Amino acid sequence: MRVAILISGGGSNMLALADSMTGAHPARPVLVLSNKPDAGGLEKAAARGIATACVDHRPFRGDRPAFEAALHDRLVQAAPDLICLAGFMRVLTENFVEAWAGRMLNIHPSLLPKYRGLDTHARAIAAGDSEAGCTVHEVTPALDDGPVLGQARVPIRTDETPETLAARVLVQEHRLYPAVVARVATGDRRRIDL
Ligand code: GRF
Repeated sequence: MRVAILISGGGSNMLALADSMTGAHPARPVLVLSNKPDAGGLEKAAARGIATACVDHRPFRGDRPAFEAALHDRLVQAAPDLICLAGFMRVLTENFVEAWAGRMLNIHPSLLPKYRGLDTHARAIAAGDSEAGCTVHEVTPALDDGPVLGQARVPIRTDETPETLAARVLVQEHRLYPAVVARVATGDRRRIDL
C-alpha cells in the first residue's frame, strides 16, 4: 500500500507512521507533502530517504480551489492508495475530500465527537472532563467528522495544563495512528481502541 503523508509542522505523527512501515508491513510511505516550506518534518522525512514536496498555500492567497488543485495534482503524481493527514493544518473543501473519498485519514487530538476543531485540550480541561485522547478517522467533507477508525484515551490529572495533556496525548497518537494504518493496510477497517 502506497501512503502519502501530509504535514504542516514538526511531523512527529508522520515520523511515527514512517518508522512503522518497514519490513513485512504492507505499506510504505511514498511522499511527505507539506503546505509550509519550513515544516521541520520535511527534513526529517528526507533524512529517511522519503520523497518530499511542498505546495505552499500562501501564493494562492485565499484561492482555496487553486491551492487544492495544485495539492491534488502533486498527490496524483505519487499515486497513493492512502493519504494520512498528520498535523496538516489546512481545512480541505468538499471537492478535494470527495476526490479521495475513503482513502484519506486524519488524526485529531480529542475523543471525537467531542471537541472538533482547535484548542481541544484546553476545552477538555475547562469542561472538567476526566479523560482526553486522540481519534483517527476517515476524512469526510464535514470537519473532524468521519467514521472513527481508532481512539486512545488518557486521564486528565488535577493539575493538568493544555501543554502537559498535549504531551501525553501525543504519545498515544504515535501509538494509535500506526496501529490503525497497519490494520487498514490489510483491508480491515474495524475500529481499534487503545
Ligand atoms: C498533533 O496534536 C496532532 O494531533 C495534530 O497536530 C499536532 C501536531 O502533530 N493534528 P505533528 O507533531 O506535527 O505530527
